[in-house]
Amino acid sequence: MTTQASSVISATSGTTAAIGIDIGGTGIKGGVVDLASGALISPRVKLPTPEGGKPDDIAETTKKVLEQLDADPHLPIGIDFPAVVQHGRTMSAANVSKKWIGFEAEKFFEQALGRPILFVNDADAAGFAETEYGAAKGRKDVVMLTTLGTGIGSALIVDGFLVPNTELGHIELDGHDAEKKAAFSAKEREDLSWEKWGKRLTKYYQALEKLFSPDLFIVGGGVSKHFDEWGHFVDIRTEMIPAQFLNNAGILGAAALAAKAKP
Ligand code: BGC
Repeated sequence: MTTQASSVISATSGTTAAIGIDIGGTGIKGGVVDLASGALISPRVKLPTPEGGKPDDIAETTKKVLEQLDADPHLPIGIDFPAVVQHGRTMSAANVSKKWIGFEAEKFFEQALGRPILFVNDADAAGFAETEYGAAKGRKDVVMLTTLGTGIGSALIVDGFLVPNTELGHIELDGHDAEKKAAFSAKEREDLSWEKWGKRLTKYYQALEKLFSPDLFIVGGGVSKHFDEWGHFVDIRTEMIPAQFLNNAGILGAAALAAKAKP
């Protein structure tokens, strides 16, 4: 038991706090979130994602993350994952094991963890975090968050409401799946300069502008902390800003969505 975590959590039990767990390609991260402020009120626990990313192994590591958090067992839990999640079922597997396609993920995790959870797409969780606590807070218009990492995730938020599973990383760009050309992993794989990558992003975001005419783009993912170096290379008419939350966006959004769904 980590005394620091449990003392914080006992002071904020009930629906004022919730647990968020973010399942990514390299790590499974968890934390307890104060729902009013969006602040993390426990130490952040991070364990490596098991090789192969199969459901059983991921659930086992998620259980360990939860055990290490040692939080009030009555807190709502939200878990996010990089796939389409429709009514608790994962429906795609762009960068994860194909075993997740058509998989009853929410039910599976509820059984593995022995308590109700909410299962949600990772970019949707990040978008909801920005809506509740960050760069999109209080906006009454059309905001589009994209995360640039291994893949490209997207969240569409209209008047503060999330439209889930937009999956705009998979639109076609020059005959390719967009994320294969414009994700941060493409920049690294092909050793592109910021400027060259910026040109690809320009094409990508121009295509999104054409389809949705958003009022604001928010860019998340680790590379958004270097926004000053590449943002000016993205030549579009829509305002674009970096996300407020980087590493913790998924944790915050998953927790907030879980509290909203299952207070
Ligand atoms: C997946 C999305 C996910 C994104 C970011 C894409 O490849 O299809 O579901 O949100 O990667 O992780």
